[in-house]
Amino acid sequence: MARLQLDQLSKRYGEFYAARDVTLDVADGEFLVLLGPSGCGKTTTLRMIAGFVEPTAGTVRLGGVDVTRLPAWKRNTGLVFQNYALFPHLTVAQNVAFGLEMRKVPQSEAKRRVAEVLDLVRLGHLGDRLPRQLSGGQQQRVALARALVFRPDVLLLDEPLSNLDAKLRQEVRVEIRKLQQSLRLTTVMVTHDQEEALTMADRLVVMNEGAVRQVGTQRDLYERPADRFVAGFVGRSSFLSGMLETPERFRSRGGIAVACRAAGTGPATLSLRPERVVVSPAPPAGVENAFPGEVEFVSYLGGLIDVHVRLSPDDLVIAQIANRESGFVPGVGDKVHVGWSAGSASVFLESGESAGADEVQPAEAAD
Ligand SMILES: Nc1ncnc2c1ncn2[C@@H]1O[C@H](COP(=O)(O)OP(=O)(O)O)[C@@H](O)[C@H]1O
Ligand SMILES: [Mg+2]
Repeated sequence: MARLQLDQLSKRYGEFYAARDVTLDVADGEFLVLLGPSGCGKTTTLRMIAGFVEPTAGTVRLGGVDVTRLPAWKRNTGLVFQNYALFPHLTVAQNVAFGLEMRKVPQSEAKRRVAEVLDLVRLGHLGDRLPRQLSGGQQQRVALARALVFRPDVLLLDEPLSNLDAKLRQEVRVEIRKLQQSLRLTTVMVTHDQEEALTMADRLVVMNEGAVRQVGTQRDLYERPADRFVAGFVGRSSFLSGMLETPERFRSRGGIAVACRAAGTGPATLSLRPERVVVSPAPPAGVENAFPGEVEFVSYLGGLIDVHVRLSPDDLVIAQIANRESGFVPGVGDKVHVGWSAGSASVFLESGESAGADEVQPAEAAD
């Protein structure tokens, strides 16, 4: 168990940065998730932590010790891959014991540790089976046991659930999280799956094009996305493009003047969470923004309903409304009104500065 610190860690292949200036501080016992689209540098970052990819620049510290130049086997990290990479001709117990023999752990000690860790992942009764005699979820647990048997200072998981079907993935998610919490194991998991990231992490790191875009809790990322990319990648948003004319007024390309709470002026994008938008037959009261529009699309998601409302040829807003017995549910083609409070939108200046994320407090936005 240890604190993990990355300082300006970069990996360059020729002119191309697979990871660039990645700086992270993972607390002892924390579950950190690296989230981002395919190719954004998640695996590269994880493998630099494990010691399988040599950084071009920057440092990795584990428990305060600089391990950047240490080979993988001297680092005491446990790495679990997406494809479990079990030895097909070895039993479950032999698969788990394999690395211990390599590390010259005495046989009696190895046996005890294998039994202990197989119990931990609830495979104590299946030690004699071969991998092909196990389900996908069980195989993944063997891979996990194989990483845990070293009592790693940090557990590294690279898309560990992506080979499992949807239902099993949810179960294993909970299992891994519980195990991590009971062992208080510093863990870094990589995924491109937003829901997986949100349900498992203590904190998340959103990456894009090799760089960290934002680090924070689920709430930080959702309520105060640092930029347009994060707003679009974590949760859903409607985006209106236009100009921030004053810090309090955004003018959309379609000509709509939106009251907001931002900072600065210039070309900008306004981002709006669907559940912050109300839809009603008459202009909504009590919100700074109210606009007429026409329903373009309605999608039933069970308890929730998505309503796409066109405010102008250039401006479309998605509202997510609760499916209540007495609630108003518009149909396609209906003339409706939408509304939202000034504090509930985020505005991102095109110049790259976040337009006032620091001024807009989540409490204000919530009203
Ligand atoms: N050995 C390599 N040589 C050249 N490019 C690589 C190598 N490994 C990874 N890359 C590139 O670096 C980028 C990041 O890769 P990776 O870290 O695997 O992304 P992720 O895990 O987020 O999908 C990708 O564009 C990938 O093609
Ligand atoms: Mg990857």
